Formats: sequence, C-alpha cells, structure tokens
Amino acid sequence: MAEYIMAAQNGRNIPMEDTIFGISRRANEMIANEGADKVINATIGALLNDDGELMVLSSVDETFMGLEPIEYAQYAPIGGTPAFRKAAIKAALKNYEPKGFVRAVATPGGTGCLSDVVANYSCPGDKILTTDWFWSPYNTIATQQGRSIATFQLFDEERKFNLADFSAQVAALLAEQDRLVIFLNTPAQNPTGYSLTDEDWKGVISVLSEQDADKRIALLVDTAYIDFAGDEDEYRSFIPLLEELPANVLPMLAFSMSKTFTLYGLRCGALICLAQSEEVADEFVRVCEFFARGSWSNSPKAGQSIITNIFADEELLAKVTEERKEIRDLLLARGRAFEEESAKVGLEILPYDGGFFASIPCDDPKAASLELEKDGIFLVPLAKGLRVSLASISEEKCRRIPAKVVEVLKK
Ligand SMILES: Cc1ncc(COP(=O)(O)O)c(C=O)c1O
Repeated sequence: MAEYIMAAQNGRNIPMEDTIFGISRRANEMIANEGADKVINATIGALLNDDGELMVLSSVDETFMGLEPIEYAQYAPIGGTPAFRKAAIKAALKNYEPKGFVRAVATPGGTGCLSDVVANYSCPGDKILTTDWFWSPYNTIATQQGRSIATFQLFDEERKFNLADFSAQVAALLAEQDRLVIFLNTPAQNPTGYSLTDEDWKGVISVLSEQDADKRIALLVDTAYIDFAGDEDEYRSFIPLLEELPANVLPMLAFSMSKTFTLYGLRCGALICLAQSEEVADEFVRVCEFFARGSWSNSPKAGQSIITNIFADEELLAKVTEERKEIRDLLLARGRAFEEESAKVGLEILPYDGGFFASIPCDDPKAASLELEKDGIFLVPLAKGLRVSLASISEEKCRRIPAKVVEVLKK
C-alpha cells in the first residue's frame, strides 16, 4: 500500500509518531502503572521543578496577567510591533552596541527564525550545514522546504571543537552551491550542552572570511539556550566577533523567548541580523516579512507585549533577570551533578557546558534506550548517542542515571 493516501510526500520522511513524544508517552504510562518514583523521564525540553512541574518566571506571568485586551487580541504588524523589535534586540544583545545595522523581525519562537533563514537565504535543493549532533527539527525544517541537512563533526578526537572538519565541509558545500546557510546552536547546545569558546569562534570567523567573496553565506547562531549557559553577559562575548565577518557573510541570531522568558506556549521569538550595510539590513526585513506573510502571517501579539512591557520597566526587568538566575542555577547544579556522577562511574559524556541537555555517545542508541526504559529511565536516542534532559529531572535523578547507563552499555 502506498504510504500516503491523499497527501503528497514531497520528498519528506514523515513518521507515524514523533520519536520524543512516543517515548514520553511510554514514560507516562509507566508512571501511571508503577508510580512517579520508579520513572525518570529525561526527554522533556522544558525546565521542570523537582516535582516535574513546569517552572514559570512569576514576574513574566504577572506581566502576562496584567495585559490589556488591545495588547493581545489585536493583530501585531507582520514583522512585530516596533517596541517589541527594539526590546528583542536589547534582550538578545544586552549591553552590546553593534557597529553595523541591526534589525529584528518577530517570529513564532526560535523555530520561526530557522524557517525564515532557510526560506530567504538558501535555494531549493541546497544543503544547510550544521553540526553532527543537532536538534532534529533542523532536518524537518530543511526538508519541509525542499532543502536537506549536511553536517560537520562538532568534536575532534580530543573532544574539542572540530574546526578542521567545519572548514572542510564549508569548502565542499561552497564548491557545489553559490550560497550556504549554516546553523550553529551555541551557547549550551541542544543536545550536547557544548558552548563554542571565543577561540572556537575566531576559528569559525577566519574560515568563513577565507571563502570566495562571490559566495553568499548566512550564518545563523541559534541562541535558544543562551540564558541558560551561565553569566548572561559573558556568554554574549562572541557577538562582537560576528561583526568581523566580511560583507558576503550575514550573521543572524535566532532569539527564542521560549526558554529565556518561560513563554514556550506563546510562540514568541525574533530573528536578528547584524548587517554591514543598510541595504542588506533593509532587504533582511523585506524578505522576512514577505515569508512571514506567506507562512504564519503575523506572530502572536501577547508575547510581544509582555517583552515590551518588561523592557519598559527597569525594576521589572531586574526582577525577571534575577528570577531567571535562580532557575538557571538550579539547572546548572543538575548538570554538574550529572557530570560528577558520570566521572565517578566512568561514563563518557560529551563536553557539557550548560543548558537543558547533555549527551552520551554510544554505538546502538536505540537498543540502549529501549533497555534503559525497562529500568524506568527514558532518554532520547539520537544518531550517535543518548540525550539526557537535565532540565526535566531533579538533581537526585541526574545522579541516578550514569551508573544505570554504564550497566546497560556494558551489556
Ligand atoms: C536547538 C533549538 N533551537 C530552537 C528551538 C526553538 O524553540 P522555540 O521555537 O520553542 O522557541 C529549540 C527548542 O527546543 C531548540 O532546542
């Protein structure tokens, strides 16, 4: 029987059930049958407290509850309200004042930024370059628009950033394509927790600067977890480096409000460009607004109003930042516990710096994750290993996982 009855496949591989939701469903069934203390559901991509409840910044929640109908019921302009666009730049860049031409357009979350960049800076049939450990929706977003994903190895043999492979893959793709979109998810990458150091960044910038000036390169830094890596200013130190890129490379930031402001469900984000010329910046706005019109139209106004109101009130902004620090500290403590316990039991994990996830390289991730499920441990199998969501489990559960994984991998 043909796989599709009425629908057109259009080169897409559409599974019957999303892998992560499938695993989460099995975890919930086990919780219902055997009790929550028997289950570690480390699959969820949201920050939960030790009892498994969603953590929401109360200052953000209060701002939401105080909105007037006009601030959420009305359509927002296609590219976002002017005040939101300003506030989004402030949220993404913090104290940095760019030399170039900065513009922001509203998107429905960080995901919207990624679709936008694929649509506007690559051509059908192109390959989008990212790391071999990557967030799987990158593939969905690319294939949905008739593109595909190519990868370079994130780590070399010493588990350092693999600049040599980055350089080789950029050159190989630019030999075949006139333009190249690159997705780099940093700091605190999903799924490894790795953050490019400023040294790594200098290498990336030098590789991109060496390419043929006739080629067009769009460098998208996916900063979904930037505020969950550590000190918010320190983790923005790479931003000025982006302005050293030559004119044929356009750096952009995908800024998601989902994690930073715990607004996952409100679908709020902004794509930000740091262009060298006003023409490129204005073109960025024009093409992004056109794409928005033809896909999601305008983005929800509620999130935009919340962010605008937060940035209009210094005291409120300070409160949001302080509250975020508290939940970030809790997350990072879980990460350190996981690293510590892994070292103790001799489990090799990839270099974790911060963020929601850590990863364990292994040979047969699917088999390993099914085996772990029998012990009540639910992790996400990736192509090259297992992903652990530190965001969704307590520190005590983070400490329980490594020994169990070692046991299963030995089998
Ligand atoms: C790597 C990465 N990029 C982008 C996003 C976008 O998130 P959202 O569209 O919810 O803002 C996520 C969310 O999980 C992510 O993990």
